[in-house]
Amino acid sequence: MRLFELSADMQKFSANVRAANLTLGLVPTMGALHAGHLSIVEKALGENDRVAVSIFVNPTQFNNPEDLQKYPRVLDEDLQKLEGISQNRLLVFAPLVKEIYGDNLISDRFDLQGLDLEMEGKYRPGHFQGVATIVKKLFQITKPHKAYFGEKDYQQLAVIRKMTQLEQMPVEIVPCNIYREKNGLAMSSRNRLLSPATKETAGYIFSALQWCAANFDEKEIDELKAEVGKKIASDSTFALEYFEIAEADSLQLAEKKEENKKYRAFIAVFAENVRLIDNIALN
Ligand code: PAJ
Repeated sequence: MRLFELSADMQKFSANVRAANLTLGLVPTMGALHAGHLSIVEKALGENDRVAVSIFVNPTQFNNPEDLQKYPRVLDEDLQKLEGISQNRLLVFAPLVKEIYGDNLISDRFDLQGLDLEMEGKYRPGHFQGVATIVKKLFQITKPHKAYFGEKDYQQLAVIRKMTQLEQMPVEIVPCNIYREKNGLAMSSRNRLLSPATKETAGYIFSALQWCAANFDEKEIDELKAEVGKKIASDSTFALEYFEIAEADSLQLAEKKEENKKYRAFIAVFAENVRLIDNIALN
C-alpha cells in the first residue's frame, strides 16, 4: 500500500488516476482507525477504483489543547489495518502539520449559515471552521470524485456539505451509517481512552437515544429532554454536556414538533474526562 506524506506526491497520484479515467474516493480521518472507519473505507472501495484515506490530526479543529495532546496517534497500527483491506487499490495520505498549514496554523472563515452555532458548535467554539478548513484543503490536494463522512458526526456532515456548496467544489459527499459496539456505543477513536468497565456501561447513551426515538410521537420535546437528562444523570460516571432535538436539515433547535418536518436528537456526554457524542433520527 502506498503512503504519501507530501501534498505534491498525493496530487501527482490523483492526477494519474484521473488521467487513466479511473475514479478516486477520499475518506478523511484523524487516524486511530476502528471498525467504523474501516466500514467507510470498504464502502468507498465498493464505489471507486482507488481510495485515499487521509490520516491527519487537525490542530485547528481542537478548541481544547489537552484533547489535541491526548488524541491517539498510532500510524503503524492504522497502516496495518488498511493493508488488511486492500494493498493495491488503497493509499494513505498522512502529512505533517507543517506540510498542510506551513507556519500559518489558523482556520479560514466560512459562512456556515447557522449550521455551526448549536450543539457541537456551541460547546466547541471554532471547531467547525477548523473542520471546514482542513476538508477544503484535503479536497484541493486529493481532488476526489467522492468523499465519505459518517453520520456519527452528523453536524460535521452538514457543515461539510455547506462548505462544498459555498466553495463550489466538484466532490460528491457520501453519508455513511453509524457503526456501533455490541452494546450500542458509537465507535470512536476516543473510546480507547475509556476504561473497559465504562466502555461497557456507555452503551447506556445509545439506549437513552433509542428511548427518545421510541417515545417521540407520544411525548413533547421538553418532556423528552427532561427524561433523557434524568437517565444520564442516574449514573455518576456520566455527565451530560447537552441533549438537543433539532430539525434534521437546518439543525435549528426545536421546541415544538411541526408537521412534515424531520427531527434528530443529539447528545454529548463526558465519561472519565472523555467526550462522547452520538445522534439518532427521531421520525
Ligand atoms: P474522525 O473522527 O477520525 O472520523 C473520520 C470519519 O469517520 C468521519 O467522517 C466520522 O464521522 C466517521 N466516523 C467516526 N466514527 C464513526 C462511526 N462509529 N460510524 C460511522 N462513521 C464514523 O471526523 C473526523 O475524523 C475529522 O473531523 C475529519 C473529518 C477527518 C476532519 O479533520
